[in-house]
Amino acid sequence: MSFSIDLEGRRSIVTGAGQGVGRAIALTLAEAGAHVGVNDIVPAMADGVVEEISAAGGQASAVPFDVTDFAQVEAGIGRFGDVDILVNNAGNAGAEGFAERCDFSDSNPADWSRYFAVNLFGTMHCTRAAVPSMIPRGWGRVITIVSDASRYGDAKVAPYAAAKAGAAGLCRSVAREVGRYGITVNCVSLGTMVTPTTAKPKPETPEAIERERRTLSRYVIRRRGVPEDAVGLVTFLASPLASWITGQTYAINGGYTFSL
Ligand SMILES: NC(=O)c1ccc[n+]([C@@H]2O[C@H](COP(=O)([O-])OP(=O)(O)OC[C@H]3O[C@@H](n4cnc5c(N)ncnc54)[C@H](O)[C@@H]3O)[C@@H](O)[C@H]2O)c1
Repeated sequence: MSFSIDLEGRRSIVTGAGQGVGRAIALTLAEAGAHVGVNDIVPAMADGVVEEISAAGGQASAVPFDVTDFAQVEAGIGRFGDVDILVNNAGNAGAEGFAERCDFSDSNPADWSRYFAVNLFGTMHCTRAAVPSMIPRGWGRVITIVSDASRYGDAKVAPYAAAKAGAAGLCRSVAREVGRYGITVNCVSLGTMVTPTTAKPKPETPEAIERERRTLSRYVIRRRGVPEDAVGLVTFLASPLASWITGQTYAINGGYTFSL
């Protein structure tokens, strides 16, 4: 028995797809036959992934915009045309990657806004721009990448955790509204993945080494994830096979947390 996911004829947008998890998702959606709108705030990074997809025989176009700016999002998605599959992947603290971990008591309220702008408002802007045209067409998929840092409550990342929890709450609410139109809205929660952002060299202090040891010991499968670990579930949720799955958050985390 063979099994395949066919997204031929579907138009998708993956935000923050210039590298890391978003890039891997974009390559896989294209491999499954979707036309992929590769978004990134850095146009050259979006162009690079479009070239990779085209070289592999897939269909893609660059859709550069900043997810934090609704006017840019609307214009970018408007130029792209009707979206069938939206993957809200752009995250972390924006183009700068991830800020240093910081005790909540020391956090500067002004710094919180950059986490909210990308992870929560970015998700809201793109979903708000893409969903209205899904409704009359009676089909759509919204998949938002969230984080175990919010589900599990990792210390020293409160602004990020709060923003990701907000994005998941937004998605559950939208899922209730749009299910009747054949649109599903789900979240995928990741454990730590090795991406250009998280793989930046860190000081090899005894504390850092001990923290890494403790972190890895919490993963039942004792390694960090890689972007390719995320692509199967996201592509499945994007497909017609997942038409009765909505409002859910699924973890890809090597067993960092278990769910009931
Ligand atoms: N890497 C991890 O360990 C991890 C763990 C849990 C969740 N996540 C989530 O997974 C997603 C992908 O993470 P990653 O590590 O691959 O990210 P990354 O930082 O490696 O890449 C993010 C991409 O998004 C782009 N981007 C940033 N701000 C943008 C904006 N305002 N508009 C458009 N594009 C923007 C960046 O230019 C970059 O290409 C994020 O939502 C992140 O929060 C990652």
